[in-house]
Amino acid sequence: MNNRKILVTNALPFANGPIHLGHLLGYIQADIWVRFQRMQGNQVAYVCADDAHGTAIMLSAEKAGITPEKLIAQVNKEHQRDFACFNVDFDIYYTTHSEENRALASLVYSRITDAGKIAQRNIEQLYDPEKEMFLSDRFIKGECPKCGTADQYGDNCESCSSTYDATDLKNPYSTISGATPVKKDSTHFFFKLPEFTDMLNEWTRSGVLAPQIANKLAEWLDSGLKEWDISRDAPYFGFEIPGEPGKYFYVWLDAPIGYMASFKKLCETRDDLSFDDYWNQGVDTELYHFIGKDIINFHALFWPAMLETAGFKKPDLISVNGFLTVNGQKMSKSRGTFIMAETYLKYLNPEYLRYYFAAKLSSTPEDLDMNLEDFAQRVNSDVVGKVVNIASRCAGFISKNFDGKLGNELEVPELISEFQTAEKDIAALYENRDFSKAIRTIMAHADKANQYIAEQQPWVIAKENPQSEKVQAVCSTGLNLFRILVIYLKPVLPVIAEKVESFLKIDTLTWDDAQTLLQDHTIDKFKPLMTRIETSKVEDMVEASKENLVTEDKENNPLESIAADTPTGRDPISEEIEFPDFAKVDLRIVKITHAEHVEGADKLLKLILSLGQDHAGNDIVRTVFSGIKSAYEPEKLIGMYTVMVANLKPRQMKFGLSEGMILASGEGSAVYLLEPHEGAEPGTRVT
Ligand code: MSP
Ligand code: ZN
Repeated sequence: MNNRKILVTNALPFANGPIHLGHLLGYIQADIWVRFQRMQGNQVAYVCADDAHGTAIMLSAEKAGITPEKLIAQVNKEHQRDFACFNVDFDIYYTTHSEENRALASLVYSRITDAGKIAQRNIEQLYDPEKEMFLSDRFIKGECPKCGTADQYGDNCESCSSTYDATDLKNPYSTISGATPVKKDSTHFFFKLPEFTDMLNEWTRSGVLAPQIANKLAEWLDSGLKEWDISRDAPYFGFEIPGEPGKYFYVWLDAPIGYMASFKKLCETRDDLSFDDYWNQGVDTELYHFIGKDIINFHALFWPAMLETAGFKKPDLISVNGFLTVNGQKMSKSRGTFIMAETYLKYLNPEYLRYYFAAKLSSTPEDLDMNLEDFAQRVNSDVVGKVVNIASRCAGFISKNFDGKLGNELEVPELISEFQTAEKDIAALYENRDFSKAIRTIMAHADKANQYIAEQQPWVIAKENPQSEKVQAVCSTGLNLFRILVIYLKPVLPVIAEKVESFLKIDTLTWDDAQTLLQDHTIDKFKPLMTRIETSKVEDMVEASKENLVTEDKENNPLESIAADTPTGRDPISEEIEFPDFAKVDLRIVKITHAEHVEGADKLLKLILSLGQDHAGNDIVRTVFSGIKSAYEPEKLIGMYTVMVANLKPRQMKFGLSEGMILASGEGSAVYLLEPHEGAEPGTRVT
């Protein structure tokens, strides 16, 4: 025991978008497990990286007018910052666009080729003749071949849910250039996955996967595996296939190899780690992958087959998390529940989220719902109300009446030993990733500690006799129980645990420390460890995730932050549109007749706009909420003329109905309203 050597990986986030709460679920889950293992004395190498390749990233960079290298470097910084803020404690956060990964991808590929597991053949695909590139399904739209609905993607119809091949779409167009795609031939390389069916049937049932997932995979295995296309034609951002000019490894080939590459890079700086000890077949180290449920096929079919052929070990466990929903629904930008890590951090303590996820996570891949009311209530009642409460009830007496000294005598030895023996159950639950059960067990113990203190009522005794030994004994016992609870919670709440270590003046707590007690020991003054979640903060966070009309839909766009960093500093010009498209937008001159602050909103002002009068002489008025608070005092706006989009569908916001948008450039405090030249009349159309 306690000398396991484990390599833990987290799925590698794509390098073309910011980290959001959905991502964080899987990273926080793995981090808790890693911290638990480390507290137990096991050696863990915990690695991650950005998944930097593929068409999407290539096009994002192009749109931003920068090189993909620059894009991925910028996003990498942002991702590392977000993970660090949530205390996800990777040993290395690398990138798949590295020399280590290029070398390993080539090695794996050459071994697979030598083993005869690569087939080559010509396939016909849709090609964008203007952009001169092949188009994957997501870059082709057209009319559904079954029901005729317009603007459907190349693989399935959102209206009638039928699936089809992109070549079946009617009137197809490239979403990149708008051109009509043509069919074109090219040679592709295929990994002969069907030859691994027997191995995979056995392996997926060997305990590496939750049974539900093995069952799902069995459906695919039974219906017959297909060969896997691992090559893409230029232009592509990735690694060129050695000896095959113009052909690139498909991003999903080199992405999992990125786990190896990150670890290899880590080994360079760590004498205690060797690559071969973790990747050779037959080694006794362990390999754990933490991933989300949407990428199971890549990790549980392609990946083990590739590893086996290339002579590397297969994972010992694949832990799969379900998807995060918020308030019972898919995360949504219009509801403000598509919450970026960065936005969350502006309003709330990261440990709240870690606790809430832990309290709800199990080892099965079910979706996890974050009900925002439940979130606040749960954290407040458990962490603040139960755990922190023990310390705040006891600490004051110890510092004021006993010079900060815990007594030698402790009470209720049975209760203390019950707390200590709970270690086994709680450890087993952490080990099996049954975090919600671990938390439930810990909180049941917190209830017992509170009950003990409530029964003893040290505050009543202290009123009559502040120096009473009984008071010291009760509070010292309470603080010892508290300390044990903190040990058990430390994988989830590392920051609180650290504060407690300094409050109790003790060394870094390890798992075994639950078996010792603090007696005759001087502690520091108690400082609040965690404050309650204020619901208004949660509401503000939701509002901030939706309210910014000026920069709306940029939230999920890494280019926003990159644009500022590019030589031009400007967003690239959008795709061309036809005149009729433009003509649909009804732009009107308006006069701002009223402007006011919106209580509780960080960015919004409420504006009343006059559009003149209709034929009958009635005033036409619109109310608009606009994200320009940081740049304009409401008083200054009154009487100003500007331009609005008058026929935008009204949008229900938390603060009311917004009936359009006004035009402004920029963002933050550098927002500038567009103002017409003198003489323009409210209500006239802008053409
Ligand atoms: N780049 C691939 C993974 C390559 S691993 C060799 C990828 N990237 S991702 O950015 O789309 O997702 C990263 C991780 O976050 C994945 O495990 C994915 O399942 C997870 N999630 C993304 N959105 C999620 C939710 N809404 N909820 C829970 N997990 C989610 O996939
Ligand atoms: Zn359809």
